[in-house]
Amino acid sequence: MKKIVILTGAGISAESGVSTFRDSNGLWRNNRIEEVASPIAWENNRELVLEFYNQRRKQLFEVEPNDGHKWLVKLEQQYDVQIITQNVDDLHERAGSSNILHLHGELKKVRSTRDPELIYTLDHWELKDGDKCELGSQLRPHIVWFGESVPMIEPAVSVVTGADIFIVIGTSMVVYPAASLINYVNTEVPKYYIDPKAFSVPGISNLSIIAEKAGTGVPKLVKRLLKSE
Ligand code: OAD
Repeated sequence: MKKIVILTGAGISAESGVSTFRDSNGLWRNNRIEEVASPIAWENNRELVLEFYNQRRKQLFEVEPNDGHKWLVKLEQQYDVQIITQNVDDLHERAGSSNILHLHGELKKVRSTRDPELIYTLDHWELKDGDKCELGSQLRPHIVWFGESVPMIEPAVSVVTGADIFIVIGTSMVVYPAASLINYVNTEVPKYYIDPKAFSVPGISNLSIIAEKAGTGVPKLVKRLLKSE
């Protein structure tokens, strides 16, 4: 079976009603990153950080996967599919994809501030100041904040180097190290970039641009890939 590796970003969840970060009205247009998504923010204004992620989590309980997520699942009929997502939502999981690596953490998970191995899944949206792990220390969102390392990048690189086909969907490709993953794909491997604002990435060969929303671009590409096998 050929291996398809797919890198997704906020754009694939946009049609589900989840805000992207850098589009007009995106989350980083209305919130300052350093005030809600950094270790310093957590030190200085925990309430604001908790509230920011509580609102994101609350919304996640209200939205559903869209055609972009759902069509990717169909690829598993004929390919070994690995999704690498920058998204902290669980819409790929709920659509039914089997192999998902979260680079930037998961919104429905929280972890101990004393032992990062102590990770819990919430079945409700609100994480409060005073909610503690079993060791008695405050729980924090299980999210990679700015200035923190990205522990899943090494497994992601190793997956990407084995790709026979590489697909990028709904990401501005400005956040590193995620955006560097495409550099690890073999030169001759066919690559596709689905995003209304997709651009040709400097130094990357065999890249086809599909300048469409995920809801239409993904079904189109998936039909093509299923036919071609
Ligand atoms: P961005 O907000 O930077 O980019 C979203 C991309 O989605 C843009 O390129 C849009 O053109 C595209 N887009 C919008 N609507 C779309 C649609 N319907 N279908 C397909 N694409 C669409 O989001 P990311 O690239 O995901 O990290 O941002 C990367 C990281 O930056 C995030 O994981 C987050 C953020 O800071 C952390 O919070 C750690």
